[in-house]
This record gives sequence, structure tokens and C-alpha cells, in this order.
Amino acid sequence: MTDFQVFRAELTCLAPGTEYAFRIGKSSGVYRFRTMPKKANDTISFVSGGDVGIQAAAVANNVMAARQNPHFAIVGGDLGYDNGRSVEISLAFIRNWSKTMIDSEGRLIPMVTCIGNHEVNGGYTSDRGKAPFYLALFDGLFPDKTFNMLDFGDYLSLVLLDSGHLTPIGGDQSCWLEKTLLARQDLPHTLCVNHVPAYPSHRNPLGVPAKDGKKAVNGTGIENRKHWVPLFDKYRVPLVLEHHDHTFKRTKPLLNGMQHENGVLYLGDGSWGKIRIPRPQDDLDVMVKTSSEYHITLHKLQGRERFHLAMNEKGKIMDVSHSGQRKQGIFRTQG
Ligand SMILES: [Fe+2]
Ligand SMILES: [Fe+2]
Repeated sequence: MTDFQVFRAELTCLAPGTEYAFRIGKSSGVYRFRTMPKKANDTISFVSGGDVGIQAAAVANNVMAARQNPHFAIVGGDLGYDNGRSVEISLAFIRNWSKTMIDSEGRLIPMVTCIGNHEVNGGYTSDRGKAPFYLALFDGLFPDKTFNMLDFGDYLSLVLLDSGHLTPIGGDQSCWLEKTLLARQDLPHTLCVNHVPAYPSHRNPLGVPAKDGKKAVNGTGIENRKHWVPLFDKYRVPLVLEHHDHTFKRTKPLLNGMQHENGVLYLGDGSWGKIRIPRPQDDLDVMVKTSSEYHITLHKLQGRERFHLAMNEKGKIMDVSHSGQRKQGIFRTQG
């Protein structure tokens, strides 16, 4: 669809906890980045959000995110809104990032992503050709499948999921998720990231049956709640980052859909650069807090504890929450 080409270089055998400088060819400026530490002896911090776009609010939140000096940033789908059709939008998103996502020491902030519906022409298909711009840049982690995990030392594992955009939620992906979570259930921080939320804050989670000649509307997150939530419950996932609904939300800690002190915390819902009004009724009785503000979340990992600070694009702290290590042995049937 364009004449542009992507050139890439893979750097191997880098030392952990080290700052590196590089340039591209002989005439570029010198860029710097740092690698993640081997051990989590000091606080690890990262930011997360989703649904970015290329408007002013997105750039303002980039600036705010970079000011937190995170080790990296997670974008949980709906990056630029290129819809698999617009190279201009895809490039504008990357340009904004490269200009603004630089920390106070002048280092580039790495981006970790999962796929959303606006990376894909049509939003939901099995054809990788429908996500040309996303896969051109991010298929390093997603060469065959659009889900994967990133392990950092013995302290952090990020599980990046595809909520039905190129891969169905159930089936192979859920089997892989179960194996992946089982192998990491004793890690202090195994965190999951997906685009469409299990517990939506703007859309209707239950759906509407067909009536008076009107078509039925599917509930949002039904597939997540059927296939993924039982695994999050079973394998001690303490935190799930969700997006797509363009609000701020924090749920109660949930096991089997109900409040439980040993439950899973769901944070979202993707308002880095796009906003909507939260749904007034809380059909599943799961929300603690929702708002229609732009936001990103700063996460701080300290030992086995986690602190989550939601802040808007002006830097105002909107919400502070904490998630600790979940206790072993809580299975869904006992929840
Ligand atoms: Fe979105
Ligand atoms: Fe979306």
C-alpha cells in the first residue's frame, strides 16, 4: 500500500541494567536507551494505557507519561487508529512517539503493544494482511501469532493477548494462555494485557436480545469472561490491563466475577487519547471507580507489591490503587 520500507536491526547479548547509545548510519543523531535490570532490587516503573490516536490529548499524555521516567510503556491496542488502511496515521503515531516519549535523562522509552481493533481493517478477522502497518512495525513479538509474552528476569512477565482481532479468544490462544500462566504462577508479577475488556465500563457487558425486529447486540467481554477470566482466577494473575472503552476504570478485586480480597484487579479502559462517558449502570456490579478523563497509569513494582497511579494529561493524580501478591490455591470452583 506504500513505497515505504521498514529496516530493522536486532541487538543481541545486551547486558541488563545498562544504558546504550546508537545511531542509524553515519549521519543520524545519537539515541540512547536502557535495558531492564536483571533483578528487581529497586523500584521498577512503567506506564500503561491504550486507545491513543494522533490528536493533541494523546501528545499531552505522551509528555506526561515520559515525565514519569518509566522503564517502558505499554499500549494495549488502538495505537494510531490507522485501521489497516492509513500509512499517514500509522506514521503520525510513530512520529509523535519518537518526539515525545523521551525520559528526563534523554533516553528513548520502549513501547510494548498488543493488538486492537483499529490496527485491523475490519477490526476482527483472521487475515494478517488486514493489519499491514501494525505488523510491519510490531511483528518482532508476533511473527506468527498475535499473542505472546515478555519475561524480565525472575520478577516480571507480561502476557500480551489478542482479544479477537486476528486470533479468536478461545481455542488455541486460551490453551496457550493456560500453559503460559501455569509456568509463571510463582512469579511475583505476571500481568496480562488485552484490548477488548472483560469488564467494560462504557459498553454493555450483557448485550441486548433481538426484539421488535431489531437485531440482537452481543455483550462486550463475554468471550473474555468465558475463556480468560477463569484462567486469570486460577493462576493467580493479580492485574489485568484492559482498554477499548475510552474511559478510566478500576474494578473491585474479582474472583469468579465477585469481590474477593484475593481477587484479580482490572484496570482500564483505554483513554490515552480518546474519551467516552462511562456507562451509568454497573450491570455486573464490579466497578469501584470510573471517569471520562484522558489518562495513563503509572505502575510501580516494589518487591512483591504493586502501586498504580492513574493520572490525566495535566498530571493530576486521579486514582491510586494497590495490588499485592495473590495467594495460591484459589480455583474458580472454590471462588
Ligand atoms: Fe479505541
Ligand atoms: Fe478498540
